[in-house]
Amino acid sequence: MSNVAEIFDNMTYGPAPEADAAARAWLASHSARFGLFINGTWVNPQGAGAFLDSRNPATGEKLACIAVAGPKDVDSAVAAAAAAAPAWSKRRGHERARVLYALARLVQKSSRVIAVLESLDNGKPIRETRDIDIPLVARHFYHHAGWAQLLPQEEPDMVPLGVVGQVIPWNFPLLMLAWKIAPALACGNTVVLKPAEFTSLTALYFAELCREAGVPPGVVNIITGPGETGQALVDHPGVAKIAFTGSTEVGRIIRARTAGTGKKLSLELGGKSPFVVLEDADLDAAVEGLVDAIWFNQGQVCCAGSRLLVEESVAERFLTKIKARLANFRLGDPLDKCIDMGAVVDPIQRIRIDHMVGQAESEGGRVWRAPVNCPEIGCYYPPTLITHLGTTNTAWREEIFGPVLAVMTFRSVSEAIQLANNTRFGLSATIWSENINRALELAGAVKAGVVWVNCTNQFDAACPFGGYKESGFGREGGLLGLSEYLKAKREWLDDGPVRLPSPNVVSGGTRAAELIDRTAKNYIGGKQTRPDGGDTRQVATYDGRPAGRVGVGSRKDIRDAVEAAFNAEGWTKTSAHQRAQILFYVAENLSIRAREFKQRLMELTGVSPAAAGREVAATIERLFSYAAWADKFEGAVHRPPARQLALSLHEPLGVVGVVCPDTLPLLSFVSLVAPVIAMGNRCVAVPSERYPLPATDFYQVLDTSDLPGGVVNIVTGASDALAKILAEHDQVDCLWYHGSPAGSREVEALSVGNLKRTWVNGGRARDWLSPAAGEGRAFLAAASQVKTIWLPYGD
Ligand code: NAI
Repeated sequence: MSNVAEIFDNMTYGPAPEADAAARAWLASHSARFGLFINGTWVNPQGAGAFLDSRNPATGEKLACIAVAGPKDVDSAVAAAAAAAPAWSKRRGHERARVLYALARLVQKSSRVIAVLESLDNGKPIRETRDIDIPLVARHFYHHAGWAQLLPQEEPDMVPLGVVGQVIPWNFPLLMLAWKIAPALACGNTVVLKPAEFTSLTALYFAELCREAGVPPGVVNIITGPGETGQALVDHPGVAKIAFTGSTEVGRIIRARTAGTGKKLSLELGGKSPFVVLEDADLDAAVEGLVDAIWFNQGQVCCAGSRLLVEESVAERFLTKIKARLANFRLGDPLDKCIDMGAVVDPIQRIRIDHMVGQAESEGGRVWRAPVNCPEIGCYYPPTLITHLGTTNTAWREEIFGPVLAVMTFRSVSEAIQLANNTRFGLSATIWSENINRALELAGAVKAGVVWVNCTNQFDAACPFGGYKESGFGREGGLLGLSEYLKAKREWLDDGPVRLPSPNVVSGGTRAAELIDRTAKNYIGGKQTRPDGGDTRQVATYDGRPAGRVGVGSRKDIRDAVEAAFNAEGWTKTSAHQRAQILFYVAENLSIRAREFKQRLMELTGVSPAAAGREVAATIERLFSYAAWADKFEGAVHRPPARQLALSLHEPLGVVGVVCPDTLPLLSFVSLVAPVIAMGNRCVAVPSERYPLPATDFYQVLDTSDLPGGVVNIVTGASDALAKILAEHDQVDCLWYHGSPAGSREVEALSVGNLKRTWVNGGRARDWLSPAAGEGRAFLAAASQVKTIWLPYGD
């Protein structure tokens, strides 16, 4: 036994375990055996009715049996949710707000028992469940009770989606449930949620809170089981949206399986996030930050700062401090309030971590494990550092999802940016510097959905969270998170296939004697270029006369166009004001040539002079709209409960492919290209296959409007063939497609390579002439991604 003086010196504490009697009594009240929560009651799984054991990873002790929901159970849960949806969606916002408020209060009132249950089931320290997970769960329900109250006034043109399927992971079990269920319910959807098989207990506890809070039967259904259960939910035709958090690998599977179904999809996936320490950082604070970044929750955090980038001049000093800090780390019983780290979630996860560390070592990494006591029983893994890494090492590239830090040094801010972005992921980044100018320069340059400056792993219900690149798409938190659970009352003209005006039924087309049969080239990098294969095809007027020839674009043409767009990165750095000016100028130059475009539309599509005039006028107006929007769709400032500001900025996606429809060929082309470039993206556009000439005429307008080369690239040809090439291209960050249902399905299915964002019409037609349906925030949101930068203030 140490005396007081020694305790001050060696910081050893006696154990301070949290009592687990209440949590165990709750398990016992269910005989430690749980069915499925469907339509407000507990039911046994149908058919063979298998059960899984849920174990305490800190001891291996079996805590309970949980049911495995099979396809018939998924059917029942979706049916219950579908039956409950109409009444729930029709409730007044205030009524839904009261239910969410009741859930928030109940979470607070049972916070102790939930925190203990979560620690028992997951292995994470009670300190974290008590102080972080569960308070954030309550905060989420409060915040969304507020949104339920306000949505009818704030978003009068939006409606809920219907039944939402949600699949969540095991690292923050109840918190992920709250992130999913609170916004879904606030918007008026009903939910079928599948927790992770390792950690279902707090979700089952929550099911009972739903009953107590007055959530109507069927509005929340909780079905347990392994990945197969999740897959059955993802595949279910009665589900209007899938929200998933978990591994990138499963995210890809879900993207592919939902392709072409019209299901809305949000994916919050893996990460390999940089933690950048500049030489002017407060190193002691940065050490504590790093502890929270990679050793919080045993490193099983999607946004963990798992790659340390430290400026070379302070690297040795910093590493010495980390090692000293880790030497005093306490691993042990998650219910002990004095421990730093608990157990990883399951033996399989510990094996996976160990395997990846071994792999990194075999590839040349030097492994240092903290000299700490690891309990002999249970899934413990010591804090680990890996140094001497190259950028190809497994530890640098892959998500280890354990308490393992990969370390590298850098010499300049530009090198730090390069290394930070040298990853297929883009979930988060942490920057530590006392120099706000350098920190913000880095924050702007890193490609990540969340950036923490001089803090790390901060979350709040009002602040958007989600990834760039292969870390997924969609945001959770705040109004932006709600948009994932809403749709416009009226987005499409009808739900049937696109109806084109038949070329035989014309109304007043003009026969222009002066038609010259000439060949329009592609437009790549600001230059007119011949199609690579040299193939051209005839384009006919509405009455079958030759109107001109266009190139038949090939894979090579698309590759060249993507490269030109990629290299036109300067556009992304121009100010929004500058982009607005150029769009106004494009509109001005189009209006000078309005008669010519009107004539062209009449010849090609056979529309009346009045209709052609309307289309040209609407196109000029649309350019004005996006010139106006260019400097107005900027983002928001949030003030989370901690002493911080969170800035959510709309950033461009990068290279966006745009495949245009045949309807109103000039207006639809401009309606798609203008928002893309207004937000600072570069574009590869495939104009209407049937009427490409208005778009190829349009590059002459672009040429005279100071638009830098490569910002808009135009490749004509077979739309679906070119769309497929764009969908498969890993340098394309986002693809918008207007065409057939089959083409939409193919674009979504092929986007899995780099998990590019897609926006497809599913074969439906848009009313391009209407400003409500043909322009606005939905287009700007689809052309951008939100980066949330957290800035603490005060000492
Ligand atoms: P996972 O992605 O397999 O599991 C997450 C959830 O998806 C669970 O509820 C699971 O049952 C479900 N699921 C699995 N396959 C499915 C499918 N085909 N269709 C629908 N749902 C499915 O993650 P897992 O296996 O538990 O962990 C493996 C690795 O994934 C970890 O080592 C870590 O690297 C990563 N991971 C990342 C998370 C994140 O938040 N980014 C969370 C959990 C795991």
